[in-house]
Amino acid sequence: MSDDQPLQHVVLIGFMGTGKSTVSKRLAEHLGCAACDVDAEIVKREREEIASIFASRGEEAFRAAETAALDAVLGAQDKLVIATGGGAVLSSVNRELMLRKGYVVALTAHPERVIARVSQDPDRPLLQGGVRERVYKLLEDRKHAYDFAHLTIDTTDLTVDEIVNRIAEAAA
Ligand code: S3P
Repeated sequence: MSDDQPLQHVVLIGFMGTGKSTVSKRLAEHLGCAACDVDAEIVKREREEIASIFASRGEEAFRAAETAALDAVLGAQDKLVIATGGGAVLSSVNRELMLRKGYVVALTAHPERVIARVSQDPDRPLLQGGVRERVYKLLEDRKHAYDFAHLTIDTTDLTVDEIVNRIAEAAA
């Protein structure tokens, strides 16, 4: 990590269903700071649910709201563990913001684990029309989208505590 400008926040990136929200809360407890979820921030700022934003204004409007929310949370003075939406990495502006203000950790998981997790909560606009097919297609489209992270952790065979410990050690 840089000496002159310490990286302040821990930013979790990764495909839907890789455990970003769960890990962010547990990691924040471990580090003694607050956890923040960019999707939740979007809902708060826009006063509209994610699925509704996609349906009423389209993905482009959602992505603009996502960049604004990400920029706002990254501007917080206090250290945060920030869970981002799976597509936040698609924008180069977002990637630069994350790298400038945070230690970026990518969580990955076996596709079948992702499918099992998102099937429990399938209310994601990009998964409408067949979770399995959509997950495999998006994973292929986003094959290298998470490669810019400082650290990548395959969560498939790890407990939440093991993931948290690995991140805490690396981000120290
Ligand atoms: C998206 C992932 C979702 C949410 C939106 C779009 C994506 O967040 O931001 O539905 O493009 O992968 P999660 O990764 O938290 O499910």
